Amino acid sequence: MTQVGFRSPEQWEQMAKEQLDKGAFEYIQSGAGVEDTLQANINGFKKWHIVPRVLRNVANVDSSSTILGLKTSAPFALAPVGFQTIIHPEGELAVAKAAAAENVPYTVSTVSTYSMEEIAEVMGDAPRFFQLYWPNDEDIALSFVRRAEQSGYSAIFITVDTPMLGWREQDKSNKYFPLRKAQGLGNYLVDPVFQEKARITPDSDLEVVIKEVASRLFNPSLTWENIKWLRTKTDLPLVIKGIVHPDDAKLAVEYGMDGIVVSNHGGRQLDGSISSIDALPAIVETVQGRIEIVFDGGVRRGVDVIKALALGANSVLIGRLYAYGLTDGQDGVESVIAQLKEEVQTVLALTGETNVKSLQQVTLKSM
Ligand code: FNR
Repeated sequence: MTQVGFRSPEQWEQMAKEQLDKGAFEYIQSGAGVEDTLQANINGFKKWHIVPRVLRNVANVDSSSTILGLKTSAPFALAPVGFQTIIHPEGELAVAKAAAAENVPYTVSTVSTYSMEEIAEVMGDAPRFFQLYWPNDEDIALSFVRRAEQSGYSAIFITVDTPMLGWREQDKSNKYFPLRKAQGLGNYLVDPVFQEKARITPDSDLEVVIKEVASRLFNPSLTWENIKWLRTKTDLPLVIKGIVHPDDAKLAVEYGMDGIVVSNHGGRQLDGSISSIDALPAIVETVQGRIEIVFDGGVRRGVDVIKALALGANSVLIGRLYAYGLTDGQDGVESVIAQLKEEVQTVLALTGETNVKSLQQVTLKSM
């Protein structure tokens, strides 16, 4: 890796703003509505304060962890972020290589511009998950899951907070949606079941492909019955992404899920939804350690990772932070990850702990 010098999260964002066109940058940065939830995700962390312990020999700190059974170098993974070629031509391939080099799992989005197989190819044995936007056709959903099984993905993250796109005002005024620019088609283009159902061939007109994908991408009629069905079809761990209500967390346990992601999609779906960090404690209380709790939303610094873990999450996903780093390609993403890891180590030690597991004993005060 060519070392990119230190940049704060705000500097990474600024760099992306300067280098990307307005539509692409605002697609990444913005949230739904008046961005109340987007802001609450970030500001929510400021309400929590760590009460650190001292004189506990923190000379050797180990911030390695396991996420859904995979050994990782840090307690965080990369969130699914679609359409990464709007940020850099190498898109998902650059992110995949960076994640592999840093031994941090990469969650590949359904709407990746490169296919999940192409991404798997550059990752070798490195840890990866596949995120499913459940199409409105269960045969295509199952085909995606089979392909993920065959190309070495270790879990399926089913995103359930997106029965349709949120009310994204910025994108509406920019008239911007990456799919319309033929981005994010990688998994659909090569899918044999989609090809058959939509009568698509390698020679099909791109406009036709975009229309066929757009009409299948989301499934507003999805329910727990679909989830129950998928549970009988695959042995891969299933993780429900987009839970903020404790009753839904309870249902995820009852339906045999292996984990949940406490998430509001980075404030891009329901504006006015509770922030992720505010939703976390009640969910931890309900789940009682029966399944894994992954957390995302508003994580920008190592201290945010530590606070989420201290509040009971088992691991954390980062979204926009690495997306901004991708403006500098693989090196940028690697730098973001390396920097966050180093910061996590520092914060862990200053908290008075030497490993990630013991973080659940840390005292946090809400004020
Ligand atoms: C996302 N997110 C997302 N989630 C998902 O399940 N599938 C996807 O394809 C995408 N795509 C996507 C694109 C962009 C540009 C952003 C910013 C986010 C949501 C993502 O996985 C995660 O939940 C949030 O990004 C977490 O919030 P922060 O870390 O960005 O504050």
